[in-house]
Amino acid sequence: MTTIIDGNEVASEVRGELEGAIGTLADRGVTPGLATVLVGDDPASETYVNMKQRDCEEVGIEGIHVDLPGDASSEELYDTIEELNADPEVHGYLVQDPVPNQIDYREVIRRIDPAKDVDGFHPENVGRLVAGDARFKPCTPHGIQKLFEAYDVETEGADVTVVGRSDIVGKPMANLLLQKAEGGNATVTVCHSRTEDLAAKTRNADVVIVASGVTELVDGSMLSEGATVIDVGISRVDADNEKGYELVGDVEFESAKEVAGAITPVPGGVGPMTRAMLLYNTVKAASEAED
Ligand code: GUN
Repeated sequence: MTTIIDGNEVASEVRGELEGAIGTLADRGVTPGLATVLVGDDPASETYVNMKQRDCEEVGIEGIHVDLPGDASSEELYDTIEELNADPEVHGYLVQDPVPNQIDYREVIRRIDPAKDVDGFHPENVGRLVAGDARFKPCTPHGIQKLFEAYDVETEGADVTVVGRSDIVGKPMANLLLQKAEGGNATVTVCHSRTEDLAAKTRNADVVIVASGVTELVDGSMLSEGATVIDVGISRVDADNEKGYELVGDVEFESAKEVAGAITPVPGGVGPMTRAMLLYNTVKAASEAED
């Protein structure tokens, strides 16, 4: 039987642990604060940011939201960033990506106080992660490590293939898996759009993590029997149902689940973990700010 990895359940365990830490902070008169900044009105980004705000409310984190118009200048956004950097009630914040074309996201990231960079995107935090001294682990790779812990997926000595080389998922995931630490010690292969014979690389793996941004790129024929499969993708495709669409990942679930030993569904796999780890990083930021 294939194990369907339940991200909602593990995320709710993480949130439960956080509630304890939030209680301890409350005893010291501290409420963790997370701000989200959205520039423009991209509907998918609005949904993500709303979910992050709802999560905050549920666990007792103070959520602050800043909306800037789609034609906001870089300077306006930099002013917002300065205010958030200076605000002692904001322990962590993020600027939702993508931003409109007139804004350089890299420069935005550089201006965020690294101690409040709960996404873990600032170059200082990327450097610390690569050096094995992470302050904030990026939320999706960290959430995947938590899933491995919860489902006893051993990474030490395992062949792990990561499909995708993004700054948000692929690169930090590969780095964490390489580290000489719990949840690491893997032999890591990183694949991308220029990889030749992707199937050979995924078939060789004990664990396959797909964050390619290509719908249903990996199917069952590309997996070895019993592999653990983590699907980071999520896209809407038209469907003949009530909603008129369905959500699908970067893995073709039906064929993959016939071969895999364990697999994450979409939705309900990685997504809830990403959100939970953002809360985790916010509580960490608040605890460290008060030390
Ligand atoms: N857009 C999609 N995922 C993310 C994320 O994890 N953080 C931010 N800031 N923007 C995103």
